[in-house]
Amino acid sequence: MNTLVEKINTLKREKNAVILAHCYQNVEIDEVADFVGDSLYLSKMAKETDADIIVFAGVSFMAETAKLLSPNKKVLLPRLEAGCFMANMINVDSLRQFKAIHPNVPVVCYVNSTAAVKAECDVCCTSSNAYDVVSNLGADEVLFVPDTYLGKWVESKLNGKVKVTTYNGFCPTHLRLRAEDVEAARQAYPNSKILAHPECHQTVSALADFVGSTKEIMQYVKNSNDIEFTIATEKGVLDRLQRDYKDKTFHLLKDTLVCTNMKWNTLDDIYNALINEEHEIVLDEAISQKAMACINKMFEVTSVACK
Ligand code: 13P
Ligand code: SF4
Repeated sequence: MNTLVEKINTLKREKNAVILAHCYQNVEIDEVADFVGDSLYLSKMAKETDADIIVFAGVSFMAETAKLLSPNKKVLLPRLEAGCFMANMINVDSLRQFKAIHPNVPVVCYVNSTAAVKAECDVCCTSSNAYDVVSNLGADEVLFVPDTYLGKWVESKLNGKVKVTTYNGFCPTHLRLRAEDVEAARQAYPNSKILAHPECHQTVSALADFVGSTKEIMQYVKNSNDIEFTIATEKGVLDRLQRDYKDKTFHLLKDTLVCTNMKWNTLDDIYNALINEEHEIVLDEAISQKAMACINKMFEVTSVACK
C-alpha cells in the first residue's frame, strides 16, 4: 500500500505538476514540496518552472501571484479558506480612498494583497526586497499598503530619505508580539540571537538582533556561528530550523506565533488538489495585466530579470 507521500509524488509525475510550499506551512508538506521558501523565492520558481500544474501550499495571494507570473499554467490552491488576514484588510474601495487622501504619490504594494489591489498600485514588493524597492524608486514620498509595520520599518532603515505613508493594515500573527516578550526572552536566553520578521510592531523590531524576511532569517541561522536563536516569526520557520540544524538551539518568542490560515493545508488536501485539479485560480484578464505591471515594476527596480 502506497503512502500518501508516494501517491502525491506519483500524481506529480503523471500530471507534470510541482508543489510550492511557503515556509510557514505545516512542516510535513516539505516531504512532497519541490520548492520551499519565502514569497519572493516562490514567485520566481512559479515563473521558472515548466510544469503544467502548480499546487501552491500557501495562502491565496501567493497562488494568485503564481498565476499572474504563469498565466498559462493551472495554479491550484488546496484549501480555499487559506486567505491572509492582512491581505483581506484592504480592498479596491479602501485603497482608492487612501490614494485620494494622498494624491500623486507612488503606491508600493506589499505582495500580501489581492491581484485587484495590486492592479491599482505602482510597484509591488516582498518583505525581502521592500527596502530596495522603496529606495530605488527615487521618490521623496511613497504610500505603502497594506502593512503599516513593514512600511514603517523600511522608512526607519532609510533614515528619513523617503517619507513612507502607510495604510493601517497589519498581520495579526506578528502583532501578537510585544516589546515585553523580547525583553523576557533576553532574560530567559541571554546568549540567544533574536531574529524578527519586519511585519512585527516597530518596538519589537527595534529590540531584535536581526530583522528580515523568512528566507533571510533562515539564511542568518545558516551563516551564523551562534548556536542559540529566538525566532520572532511564524512557527513554521522554527520547525524547519529545528529540523535542519540539530546542533543549534531554537526558541519561539511566543508560543502563539501560528498563522492559522497558513496551517489549513494538509497532505490530504494536497492529494485532493492534485487528483481533482482543484481549486483553480482564475483571474480577470484586465486585472491580471495591471497587476502584472505592478509586479514587473518590482523586478525592474530591483534589477532582477523577469524572464
Ligand atoms: P515572506 O515574504 O517573508 O515569505 O513573508 C510572507 C508572509 O506572509 C509573512 O507573514
Ligand atoms: Fe498573512 Fe500574517 Fe499569515 Fe503572513 S502570517 S499569511 S501576513 S496573516
